Amino acid sequence: MPATRASNLDETFYRGADSFFTAHADIGLTFDDVTLATLYSDILPSQTKLDSRLSDSLQLNIPIVSADMDTVTESRLAIALALNGGLGLIHYNMPERDQLGEVSRVKYHVQGLIQDPIKVSPDQLIGDVLGLIEEKKFGFSTFPVVDDGGALVGLLSGHVVKPRYAAKRVSEALTPRSQVHTVTKQQLGKDPIAVADRFFTDHVGIHKLLVVDDEDRLHGLITMSDVERITQERKAQFKPARDSQFRLICGAAVSATRNAFGELDRERILNHVGALVERGVDVVAVSTAHGHSKGVGDTVKVVRDAFPKLPIIAGNVTSAAGVEYLADCGANVVKVGQGPGSICTTRVVAGVGIPQMTALYVCSKAASEKKVSILADGGITKSGDIVKAMTLAQGVICGGIFAGCTEAPGDVVEIGGKLYKQYRGMGSLSAMKAGSAARYGHDKADTTRKVAAEGVEALKEACGPVDRVLAGLIGGIQSGMGYLGADNLEQLRSKARYIRVSPAGQREAAPHDVVELKAKN
Ligand code: XMP
Repeated sequence: MPATRASNLDETFYRGADSFFTAHADIGLTFDDVTLATLYSDILPSQTKLDSRLSDSLQLNIPIVSADMDTVTESRLAIALALNGGLGLIHYNMPERDQLGEVSRVKYHVQGLIQDPIKVSPDQLIGDVLGLIEEKKFGFSTFPVVDDGGALVGLLSGHVVKPRYAAKRVSEALTPRSQVHTVTKQQLGKDPIAVADRFFTDHVGIHKLLVVDDEDRLHGLITMSDVERITQERKAQFKPARDSQFRLICGAAVSATRNAFGELDRERILNHVGALVERGVDVVAVSTAHGHSKGVGDTVKVVRDAFPKLPIIAGNVTSAAGVEYLADCGANVVKVGQGPGSICTTRVVAGVGIPQMTALYVCSKAASEKKVSILADGGITKSGDIVKAMTLAQGVICGGIFAGCTEAPGDVVEIGGKLYKQYRGMGSLSAMKAGSAARYGHDKADTTRKVAAEGVEALKEACGPVDRVLAGLIGGIQSGMGYLGADNLEQLRSKARYIRVSPAGQREAAPHDVVELKAKN
């Protein structure tokens, strides 16, 4: 019998994170520099679970977050992502009022039982109601009508909320109480969706069901379209990411805003975050290029003191000290990545930044000591990168992957017979002029100084709906987990073993020596 089994060689070549990254402490490694070794598995990809807890109150059903960039995440993309179990971070390159509207759109998108529906009063003008819809960017136009005491007076149907009736009062246009269908909270029981589903089947043509108490005060609203969507969702493997009131989750970026004297504008930051919280935001992201800095730390502290329970994402950093600093300031989640993004030029312009896998390893050690999570932000171009990132992080942030999606902001342009959408760095000159200068430590109004852009303006090929892009990414992550015998992300982290890849190995990893045929969607 030989003293050692050949399988022991595995440990020599394929090493766990501590041993591997310490052995490569003299070089910055990124996704394509490493590959993961497979392990015995009795796990089928389809059995793997992708849920990830970013903080006590922030749980994702897939570990994918969309970047807070003005060509990536507004409400449409955030809705699509949350419906698939992820999280969208609404960017801040827009007036605060508009950002609040975007958050509201996500929070009001799919409702099961809407506990506190938007109501109107009998004395309001239809024109005021139209103004409210415009201001708050509501995607619906039917409203319960209640009196000053909260008692139900009727229902204002969408088909009368039209500019031609603007001068009429709600009381003249509403469907009266006697004709409005209601249930009591007790009648809804433990499964309101099942009760409502039966109700809509039994009442042909009725699409709204109002919930009242014994004194006929309004306590909720259920819509048929929501019930249908939720019934469908119950069958899906990855459930939408929802808050405790069954609303989709949504994040929003906030800036470390400074006043005219260059000091942190605490009042403005608190008013902004307070308004976001009022709209139901689930997490705020203090997003800057240099998170290990006084301005970002102080912003996190200000928000943490005023909102002790609000999850805070902060960044970006690439060092253990940076993670520790932000965690000590009160961040729950730290964004890791300086310069890996597809539109980033930080490394070229400023000569700083660390390749992503090394940065993630270093930051993951500090994060586990400080009991915070980290998000791998930038540089992800394929599902395999996510699998590698998830061996060290609790989630990934993607910009470029989603910028070409139908739901991303901006129009599709045709160039040479191909369809594209604009994608620009938040540190590009045009984005900084539109508002993101503070993220890179500049002042957009300051024209006396030369400002170096740290991002480019680019195009991404239009790639269809987010659902399709996510299906490919999720399938890839699940395959990776199957190869490692990991049925959840924690197991993926503990089982991962790495080896460096040579340039020839990188070429070998992609299709080669063939003429590739484009698969038709
Ligand atoms: P991907 O690779 O997903 O990267 O397109 C998105 C991430 O890139 C960061 N970001 C920038 N970094 N200059 C930079 O150096 C920029 O102009 C810029 N804009 C965005 C950001 O972290 C984002 O999530």
